[in-house]
Amino acid sequence: MHIFSKKVDLANHLKENNLDKSTVGFVPTMGALHAGHLSLLKKSIENNATTIISIFVNPTQFNNPEDLKKYPRTLESDVEKIKTISEKIIVYAPTVEDIYEGNTKSEHYNFDELENQMEGKFRPGHFDGVGTVVKRLFEIVNPTNAYFGEKDFQQLQIVKKLVEKEKLSVTIIGCPIFREQNGLAMSSRNERLSENEKKEASIIFKTLNKAKNLFGTKSAKEVAEYVIKTFSNHPIFELEYFEIADEASLLTCKRKNKKKKYRAFIAVFVNKIRLIDTISLN
Ligand code: PAF
Repeated sequence: MHIFSKKVDLANHLKENNLDKSTVGFVPTMGALHAGHLSLLKKSIENNATTIISIFVNPTQFNNPEDLKKYPRTLESDVEKIKTISEKIIVYAPTVEDIYEGNTKSEHYNFDELENQMEGKFRPGHFDGVGTVVKRLFEIVNPTNAYFGEKDFQQLQIVKKLVEKEKLSVTIIGCPIFREQNGLAMSSRNERLSENEKKEASIIFKTLNKAKNLFGTKSAKEVAEYVIKTFSNHPIFELEYFEIADEASLLTCKRKNKKKKYRAFIAVFVNKIRLIDTISLN
């Protein structure tokens, strides 16, 4: 299995083996891989001659230094998990220096307001960091197709916008959320939850499902009131936001329009660990 920490070594390997001329599927990650990431790798293998995964905890997308410090870093076990899918997958696990070359700063992007909704409101600068690293990774890997999970639906829309605005020649493919048996959306951050917190976290998906049912007959405001009430006085979960938004623009739904597709978005804290989830409503 090939694991590279330097972009120059990755580029040489692709060139020497003519892989740069094949279809390249790319799965960008921050590691702590779970079944959701592995499903992206499987999809990439099905549809591309070469598959590359990056494992890089990107400092510029963390607005909270504590979150960056505590983000799980598990390269060895990640590599073992990748091997179970295919030993042909190429791993690019760079250092901060290899990506940022001494200037660990974000570019500033205008994503046509997508960046100012939900996560953007609560995590200032987050999407500048995501845009910066994703663009650099695309320049390094030069993928034909790139795979992103729908759990980070806002990120997925922003990456599509980045590709459109920067005229990048890569197709972005969104893939369904993978869930634990109790409905908790798989996330690298789940590694930080206790067994009890994981069990109790089923409330997130249950609430989203209930919101989806209510949205059939109630207004977006009434649905939001229900969700706020569900989390008020919860012993361990604190609601950061709940939004019903138009899937394309991510703008809050004020009045339902039958022609639009809506999605509910939620962020909650448990013991300082931030969890997000989303569900399509219609
Ligand atoms: O979704 C993630 O893991 C990250 O935001 C990404 C896309 C790998 C960029 O660092």
